[in-house]
Amino acid sequence: MTESSQHGLSTRTIHGHSFKDAHGSPHLPVYDTTTFAFNSTADLLDVVEGRKSGSLYTRYGLNPSIFAIEEVLARIEGAEMAWSFCSGMAAETALFLTHGREGIVCIGDAYGGTLELLASQLPLLGITTHLILGREVDQLDALLAAGAKLVFFETPTNPTLELLDIRAIAAKAHAYGARVAVDNTFASPVNQRPLELGADFVVHSATKYLGGHSDLTAGALMGSQELLLPVWNWRKNLGSMIAPGTASLLARSLRTLVVRVRQQNESAQRIAEAMSGHPKVSRVYYPGLADFPGHTLAKEQMYGFGGMLTIEVAGSGEEATRVADRLQIFALAPSLGGAESLVTQPCTTTHHGLTSEERERRGISDAMLRLSVGLEDADDLIADLEQALA
Ligand SMILES: Cc1ncc(COP(=O)(O)O)c(C=O)c1O
Repeated sequence: MTESSQHGLSTRTIHGHSFKDAHGSPHLPVYDTTTFAFNSTADLLDVVEGRKSGSLYTRYGLNPSIFAIEEVLARIEGAEMAWSFCSGMAAETALFLTHGREGIVCIGDAYGGTLELLASQLPLLGITTHLILGREVDQLDALLAAGAKLVFFETPTNPTLELLDIRAIAAKAHAYGARVAVDNTFASPVNQRPLELGADFVVHSATKYLGGHSDLTAGALMGSQELLLPVWNWRKNLGSMIAPGTASLLARSLRTLVVRVRQQNESAQRIAEAMSGHPKVSRVYYPGLADFPGHTLAKEQMYGFGGMLTIEVAGSGEEATRVADRLQIFALAPSLGGAESLVTQPCTTTHHGLTSEERERRGISDAMLRLSVGLEDADDLIADLEQALA
């Protein structure tokens, strides 16, 4: 896919907000302030009653650091509006409670916390949820016809990097009057912008690529003003607001998003190619490999193939554990998207809570290792994998 017009993404990450610092600082100041004072009750009521925008109370999101980060977040996904949150899960929860009350369909694999929320917790509130696999997408018509109004999915998925067709799913959902939300955490807006492909919402764990340094926890929800305004009150009363210091740190991080992710794409491609020919690796899951099942769709809907890949060690789950334990540069840790490379064995972390039958149904073998490729030299990362596999 080729880039669209308007300012380029790098420019938007750096100049994407209209806040002007009185002292000329190019950085977004931290307004570590819980409440803001007014000259008169009339001025205060103008903000409280929505006649004027302005800072008021930080948990409401009415804080200059938060206004500014939300302008940047909207621009990087090409959205009319964005809300920021204290975590990715907080963003998803506010989305589901606002727009998912008539039923949610989740397609394909998703982050474990998301699956738990959808499968076990939202039903306690009377919300109907349906979890189908990517290969069961033909069930979507029946579920939409039965009244589900929100379709949610990740693409590429975790950990098999399955590609789901954003355009086709959005067209189908819209035909039934339903909305589509894509978790774009794995791809980041550098590699994929779902709103351009017909999705109604983009949700992020900003903890990952947007933050990029494993030093902040945040979430974001992007979409049209019409669809995002009703989310505001839920966020306000769930109390799931981003902290001003985190907003400022996130703004700092976004300034390097494009160079970081492009470098991670390049290194991941090199590692995927090196691992493809390795005798101790039975399979490599990476959308940038020409023989990967989702490669053609990835070329159509992504700008780059991403920094996440999964290898399947030729051997048992125990052998894969030994490989993970022998890695020296890749740190054995959950999460992804940071400057440091990470390795996780899905059966011991992200998908530990599933039965082995369920993991098998989802195509997740015990011998899989998921790699989040960081910013170290690709040669060093390949050498690390080779010594661990030897
Ligand atoms: C794809 C994806 N979405 C959402 C989340 C939840 O994000 P957070 O940990 O910021 O709440 C995660 C966390 O790992 C994730 O990987």
